[in-house]
Amino acid sequence: MNEAALQVLGLRKVYANGKTALAGVDLQVAQGAFHALLGPNGAGKSTLINILADTVRPTSGLAKMLGRDVFRERSWCKRHLGVVPQEVAFDPFFSPVEILRITSGLFGCRPDESWIRELLERLGLAEHAYKNTRQLSGGMRRRLLVAQALVHRPALVVLDEPTAGVDVELRRSLWSFMRELNRSGTTILLTTHYLEEAEQLCDHVTIIDGGQVVADRSMRELMEVVAGRYLFLGYGDAFELSEADARALSAFRPRVMSGGVCLHLGGQGGEDLGFHRVYEAAVSRLGIPRKVEIRQEDLEDVFIRLTGHARKEKSTS
Ligand SMILES: Nc1ncnc2c1ncn2[C@@H]1O[C@H](COP(=O)(O)OP(=O)(O)O)[C@@H](O)[C@H]1O
Ligand SMILES: [Mg+2]
Repeated sequence: MNEAALQVLGLRKVYANGKTALAGVDLQVAQGAFHALLGPNGAGKSTLINILADTVRPTSGLAKMLGRDVFRERSWCKRHLGVVPQEVAFDPFFSPVEILRITSGLFGCRPDESWIRELLERLGLAEHAYKNTRQLSGGMRRRLLVAQALVHRPALVVLDEPTAGVDVELRRSLWSFMRELNRSGTTILLTTHYLEEAEQLCDHVTIIDGGQVVADRSMRELMEVVAGRYLFLGYGDAFELSEADARALSAFRPRVMSGGVCLHLGGQGGEDLGFHRVYEAAVSRLGIPRKVEIRQEDLEDVFIRLTGHARKEKSTS
C-alpha cells in the first residue's frame, strides 16, 4: 500500500492555560487526496495545522509525512510541506516577489522565477508584485500566503481558511488553481468555511469538534451513507418550537428553520424512519403545515447535524 501523505495518530494539545484543543486526533490523508478538514470555530483545526507547521508544539501524539516523523525530521518534512496559516504576518518592508524569493531560499531551493511569476499571476497578484506588502489588502496578503506555501512545489499543501476575506471571483480562481495542482499530483488538506465548495472539491472529509474526530469518510460515502433525507414542514414566519414539542419529536432531531421545522427521515443507507411516521408525529403536535417538502441533506446539513453548530457565515456569493 502507498505511504499516506500525512498520518496523524493520537495527537493531543493542551495549551498553557489548560485548554484542551486536541483530545487525541487521528487523521490519515492519502497521497493525491483533496481532503477537507472541517469543524466549527474552536474545534482545533488551526491547532492541528500549526502543529504541522511547527508553530505550535504538540502535547503528545505522532505525525508522519510520507512515512517520515514530522517532529524528528523537521527539515525534510518542511521541504515537502506547504502550509497556509490562518493568521497573516509579513515583514512589511518586502514586496511579494522578494518574499517569494526569500521563502524559496528558506526551503533550500533557488528561486524558480518562472514559477514565481506563474504563482503571482494565478493568484491575482501580478500587478502588486513589486509593492510593499504593507500596501496589500487583507485578501491579497492571504493570497500571498498561498503563493508562499507553494513556492517550493511541496508534495503536501495544507490550507487553513485560505479564502477568508477573499472576494468571490478570486475565490473561484483559487479553487480552480487548487484543483489543477491536485490533478497534477499535489495532495491537499483544506480547511474552509465554504461547505458547498468543499463538497464539490474534496474527495475525503474529516470533521472535528471539540478536539475530536466526529466523522471521517470519503465525500461520496458521507453524502450517500451519512447524509439522509429530512422533512421540512412550513408553518409561517411566526413559527416557534416549544420545548415540550421539541422533546416529543426528539427522535427526529427537530431543527427550526425559516418559518418551519426540519425533521430527520434517516440515512439513505441506514434505517429509514418513514415519511408517514414522522409526518403524523409532527402533525399531532404542531398541526397541519402549510408546506411539506422532502429534502436531501447537503454537506452543510450533515455538518450542522453532527456538530450542532450552524456555520457562522454562509457563502456570501
Ligand atoms: N494560544 C492559545 N492558547 C490557549 N488556547 C488556545 C490558543 N490557541 C487556540 N486556543 C483554543 O484552542 C481551541 C481550538 O482553537 P483553534 O485550533 O484555533 O480552532 P479552530 O481553528 O478550529 O477554530 C479553542 O478553544 C481556542 O480558544
Ligand atoms: Mg482556525
